[in-house]
Amino acid sequence: MSQNSIVAGASAGPISTGAARGLWSSRWVFFLAATGSAVGLGNIWKFPYITGENGGGAFVLVYLACILAIGIPLLMAEVMIGRRGRANPEGAFAAVARQVGASRHWRWLGTLAVLTGFLILSFYAVVAGWALAYAPAAAVGSFAGLDGESSGALFGAMLGDPWKLAGYGTLVLLLTLGIVALGVREGLERALRFMMPGLFVLLLILVGYATTTGHFLEAVHFLFDADFSKLSTQGVLVALGHAFFTLSLASGAMMVYGSYLPAGTSIVKTSLMVALADTAVALLAGLAIFPLVFANGLEPGAGPGLIFVTLPIAFGQMPFGQVVGGLFFIMLALAALTSAISLSEPTIAWLVEKFGIGRLKAVLLSGLALWLLSLGTVLSFNAWAEVTLFGKTFFDGLDYLTTNLMMPLGGLGTVLFTGWALSRTTVQEALGIGHAQLFTLWWQLLRWVTPVGILIVFLHTLGLFA
Ligand code: PHE
Repeated sequence: MSQNSIVAGASAGPISTGAARGLWSSRWVFFLAATGSAVGLGNIWKFPYITGENGGGAFVLVYLACILAIGIPLLMAEVMIGRRGRANPEGAFAAVARQVGASRHWRWLGTLAVLTGFLILSFYAVVAGWALAYAPAAAVGSFAGLDGESSGALFGAMLGDPWKLAGYGTLVLLLTLGIVALGVREGLERALRFMMPGLFVLLLILVGYATTTGHFLEAVHFLFDADFSKLSTQGVLVALGHAFFTLSLASGAMMVYGSYLPAGTSIVKTSLMVALADTAVALLAGLAIFPLVFANGLEPGAGPGLIFVTLPIAFGQMPFGQVVGGLFFIMLALAALTSAISLSEPTIAWLVEKFGIGRLKAVLLSGLALWLLSLGTVLSFNAWAEVTLFGKTFFDGLDYLTTNLMMPLGGLGTVLFTGWALSRTTVQEALGIGHAQLFTLWWQLLRWVTPVGILIVFLHTLGLFA
């Protein structure tokens, strides 16, 4: 059997499609893999800090609206295109376009998605390395007695050490690509089975702890009172970009996972469950972190270090903090790993299927390129901290380019392809929604609300639409 896909493991006999590609063994496994992709640093690291930077409630509301009106319809469309095209993102767009007689140029959307995922992984691995570095620190008790200042200093010291950052980032890349090279569906499945519930329970414990700080209500108000005067135009774009990022959209991840989905499984139900789990984790992370921010006199808009400064204070104070903290950062690193795996798979499938090279070669090639690029992110926190373009460091620039520009553009292209280049019957059949009214709702949302929503946010940001 072929080694051409993530699900074609050495020990895991995949079901043959006849096309030398593997398939998930069940809808449940697909759900786990898609949730593993969606839930990651985006929920626990990024959501709190960008919420803090953008003033709280109004940002959260816009983000939730983007998930509902843009993210969920697009998630279904991507999985559908992947399953219908049965190939890497570029190949899938090309195949579906061919089936319906649309222009072959639609395939560039797939190429853009592959590139987006690749670029994201280069900085994602570095941040995942922070979690990996913090797990042993928590377990050996380095967080005992930390306050806001000393915790900030600890984090700053890590960022200042390029060797440490590069070392942990490299370790994340090695783990990710090692797993991907083996094509271990079973390993992924086993890890996800305990990781997801484990992460959820730990977050609940942290929220429980947060209620004892005396600042829980303040955090609830911060997160859910929508004061639109605090939300900038840029903030709206950040909320839209994050809806893509957190659901792993416009980066090839969901499409390539969809390409391994057996025919006949419900895309709609699974997508809704994935989006629900993803949103729940993000909101729980917010509820766990902001009480700590306020209780320790920290700045909500402190930036990318927010959780790495606040959580250690809590772990240093709570009973069994070493165990809870150690477990938490291990779970976070694992959650990041399952997302990183999904970020790497589109590039690898693309290299294998487009250039006909072996899977191992594709892994090594992309690994080398990713590693080199990741060093740019590493250095942007120390040696290159002052090197900026448009006022952004290498890391900030890469994050902005991928999440706020490439993802919305790729997403817009994908909804236009699905809603306007494909016919209603093709889509209804490919999606497998029997329920006519439900389908009509989704179809109209996808054709009108989603593209118009993305366009408005874009034009708004460019200052063309007040
Ligand atoms: N959704 C992941 C997270 O929130 C990140 C990701 C983005 C994964 C794009 C795959 C593709 O952490």
